[in-house]
Amino acid sequence: MNRIVRLAFPVALVITTSLLVACSQKEEVSKEETAALIAPVAKVELAGSAPAGAAAPGGKVDVKHVFDTVCSACHTTGAAGAPKMGDKTAWGPRIAQGKEALYHSALNGKNAMPAKGGNPALSDADVKAVVDYLVAQAK
Ligand code: HEC
Repeated sequence: MNRIVRLAFPVALVITTSLLVACSQKEEVSKEETAALIAPVAKVELAGSAPAGAAAPGGKVDVKHVFDTVCSACHTTGAAGAPKMGDKTAWGPRIAQGKEALYHSALNGKNAMPAKGGNPALSDADVKAVVDYLVAQAK
């Protein structure tokens, strides 16, 4: 009896340990594999979400989503000299040009500002709606 226990214990230990090791290794590999597998999908999802997200389910332009995904890279940080969202001093003289001028710049680009914020998939209406939003935040 004692001999069996003495023999069985290490065997069981070895089996348990190798099972554990095998499992944890398998999990690590599968995490990596999963990441590699979903990466292209995730990228496509991201790339597709900006224009697709432009129109909210109700058919209304999701202005905040467009701003966050397309415009905020520059207009939140002020990158490339972009007037920051809500910065009245930066926006004042621009707003004074009139909305049409702002629409024109946003649609066609101006200096470091790319046309449609660099996302040609946006409709003119989406871009104009975001310009309205930016202007409203700076008033
Ligand atoms: C790559 C950076 C960048 C992105 C992305 C970007 N902008 Fe701009 N934006 C700028 C810069 C820089 C200026 C200032 C241009 C100038 O007056 O020289 C600017 C200026 C503007 C102006 C003022 C134009 C004028 O005539 O004074 C509006 C309106 C505007 N952006 C709207 C948008 C909207 C809407 C988006 C998203 C769809 C967007 N921008 C995305 C960089 C960017």
